[in-house]
Amino acid sequence: MEFTEVLNGRRSIRSYQDKPIETGTVQAVIDAAVLAPSAVNSQPWEFWVILGRERIEDLSRRAKAWLVEKVAHDPTAAAVHQRLHLATPDLSLLYHAPALVLVVTKSLGKQADEDCCLAALSLMLGARNKGIGTCWIGSARPWFNLAATKTELGIPEAASVVAPIVLGYPTEWPEPHVRNPTNIHWIR
Ligand SMILES: Cc1cc2nc3c(=O)[nH]c(=O)nc-3n(C[C@H](O)[C@H](O)[C@H](O)COP(=O)(O)O)c2cc1C
Repeated sequence: MEFTEVLNGRRSIRSYQDKPIETGTVQAVIDAAVLAPSAVNSQPWEFWVILGRERIEDLSRRAKAWLVEKVAHDPTAAAVHQRLHLATPDLSLLYHAPALVLVVTKSLGKQADEDCCLAALSLMLGARNKGIGTCWIGSARPWFNLAATKTELGIPEAASVVAPIVLGYPTEWPEPHVRNPTNIHWIR
């Protein structure tokens, strides 16, 4: 695809076909992720790949239950609750996706999170280029960073999950978003 087609055509996808992604395709998407720039070229990212709708849906259910519980005890979190539609029983936090990539850093470098975010964007654009839809699931990040979740997935306790991103073949590609008017402050 043309670069501008990729850029304009990437959307957060929340509905996926029941079709697995080949491991070679996931590999190609991660190959795109690691082309991102990083502070002093530190490349502090690692990728945990989880494949299979059922396995991912199991994680999704548990992450959602934890989040519902957490929000229930936090009176300031009503807006989060509403925004994430947590009250909708059949809403899947991970959207029944067939693949999940966790962008993880083991680095204590001050800019490792920023580096991982750039890798995540590169991954999402690389996926779009291959016809794969993605959605960054920030709401699931705290659950993936629980010690128990990390132990289950074999992620070292000292590591940090920066970006949980689901991937799959979309049921449809939504139209490109109309963005807010851009605030540019030209200093001449
Ligand atoms: C850091 C971050 C966290 C996000 N977390 C969620 C999330 O938890 N659930 C979700 O459905 N979408 C999530 N998104 C997707 C955004 O809602 C989406 O990018 C935004 O609405 C713009 O839409 P677009 O990606 O289709 O252009 C997240 C995106 C980013 C960058």
